[in-house]
Amino acid sequence: MKSNPANNEISRAWNYHNATKHSQWSVHSSRHYLDFANQPIPLKIYTTIDPIPLPRNADQTGISALSAISTPEVTSETDAIPSVADLARLLFFSAGITKKRSYSGGEMYFRAASCTGALYEFELYLVCGNLPDLQAGIYHFSPGDFALRLLRAGDYRGVLAEATAGEPSVRHAPVTIVCTGTYWRNAWKYRTRTYRHFGWDNGTILANMLAMAAASRLPAKVVLGFVDSEVNRLLDLDSEREVAFSMVSIGRTTEAAPDEKPDIPGLSFPTVPLSQSEVEYPELREIHAASSLASADEVTDWRNRSLRTEEKPRREFFLRPEISTDSIERVILRRGSTRYFQRASITHEQLMTLLHTSTQGIWPGVQFLNDLYLIIHAVDGVDPGAYFYNSDTGDIECLKKGDFRSEARFLGLQQDLPGDAAADVFMLADLQPILERLGNRGYRAVQLEAGILGGKMYLAAYAQHFGATGLTFFDDDVTNFFSPHAKNKSAIFLVALGKSRRVSSNI
Ligand SMILES: Cc1cc2nc3c(=O)[nH]c(=O)nc-3n(C[C@H](O)[C@H](O)[C@H](O)COP(=O)(O)O)c2cc1C
Repeated sequence: MKSNPANNEISRAWNYHNATKHSQWSVHSSRHYLDFANQPIPLKIYTTIDPIPLPRNADQTGISALSAISTPEVTSETDAIPSVADLARLLFFSAGITKKRSYSGGEMYFRAASCTGALYEFELYLVCGNLPDLQAGIYHFSPGDFALRLLRAGDYRGVLAEATAGEPSVRHAPVTIVCTGTYWRNAWKYRTRTYRHFGWDNGTILANMLAMAAASRLPAKVVLGFVDSEVNRLLDLDSEREVAFSMVSIGRTTEAAPDEKPDIPGLSFPTVPLSQSEVEYPELREIHAASSLASADEVTDWRNRSLRTEEKPRREFFLRPEISTDSIERVILRRGSTRYFQRASITHEQLMTLLHTSTQGIWPGVQFLNDLYLIIHAVDGVDPGAYFYNSDTGDIECLKKGDFRSEARFLGLQQDLPGDAAADVFMLADLQPILERLGNRGYRAVQLEAGILGGKMYLAAYAQHFGATGLTFFDDDVTNFFSPHAKNKSAIFLVALGKSRRVSSNI
């Protein structure tokens, strides 16, 4: 079996993770400064391919955000083939430009999903068969002019089916969306930490995409097991700079993707340079190469190793419609990262609704890799303190009581946001057994899952008319704070929740 031996050398993921930890010392001793004159553009712009405009007036689903994000899995025995209007809705509410803000230096564009530093390093590509109103091909999605650009005409879904070792959802998907990350666009600011950000920033996009697919009654499945080089070649990526990170199969057709193998010539379409020059961070390419899969057999083996759970009875959770019936589209348009919290409380029901709805439907049948820990400051009826979310019982368990606002502020990189929030949700993962089982590819999965969970939490918060923001953190201090319960676990991601406070008109 052709395989990538590096995937099982898990010291590589550990080395990357340990080398990219934040501590008070690493943050304060950093001499990195932002070279705004060399800031990369947040878009991939093909200069010679004509745009195929997407409809801007696609019908909205009107489905409630809370039910969309908590849909466990949409299954379809019959064909569920998206139209171009469905795709336009899916793409706009996952990665489209939803807000513009003017500031003294110009205009900033914000997208449907949150992204570290608003740098938007992820691109989406469609690989589809013939759809009722779109010819088979490989298309790049351009949020800037809300259009598709045809990179290859013809049905290439069989190549993806093979690259995913015959993953049934991909074989039977009319469309699969491939998400790619471009190192420099994020590393300009975050340098070697960018590979962690790939998981988070791709994850928030996927949270929106899964919710939009559920609201559109389209089956959708996140697929992380694929032969990297085959997918990168299919999209004609310069894989030294841009790489496929995840894919999502959309819809279902009884007719499987064609088996014949089309030629995949190089394309080399010109694109606008991202900035005057680019700084290389070899650590990013190294962790990517070390977590790559090299053959369909290796993908099959990897998939079989992913953590299956025994069927557990589904926990009952009563979602009261009075809590929120705002549609998923309204909620995504309203979403933004809270810049200041009010120190006001949220209710116990609001918090439990958020925890319940955001932990559904990510990898059906597969156990979560991240555990949720909370610092609660102001939740009605709950003593302030540190808590663990038991996903089996759906309850929070107190680890220690106390007012931990100043500790939370410190853990969140000494920013006020986590200290002023009503509650902070930390995702921690026990990396050693995960990596032993899934190799370095498991590291990608951990980061991506945290991003999806965090993205869902944003939506669950905004659906209930309070705010949220993703945050960075001092890694080992987070583990220490939640220990002994969290002993040996690694801090992966943090979301702060609460009522936002407007400070001035331009915030
Ligand atoms: C993973 C992640 C980490 C983030 N970390 C911080 C942070 O440490 N401090 C902060 O003020 N904002 C943080 N943000 C918020 C981003 O700056 C924000 O998402 C981005 O500017 C886009 O704006 P929007 O979310 O309002 O659309 C983070 C967002 C994400 C997704």
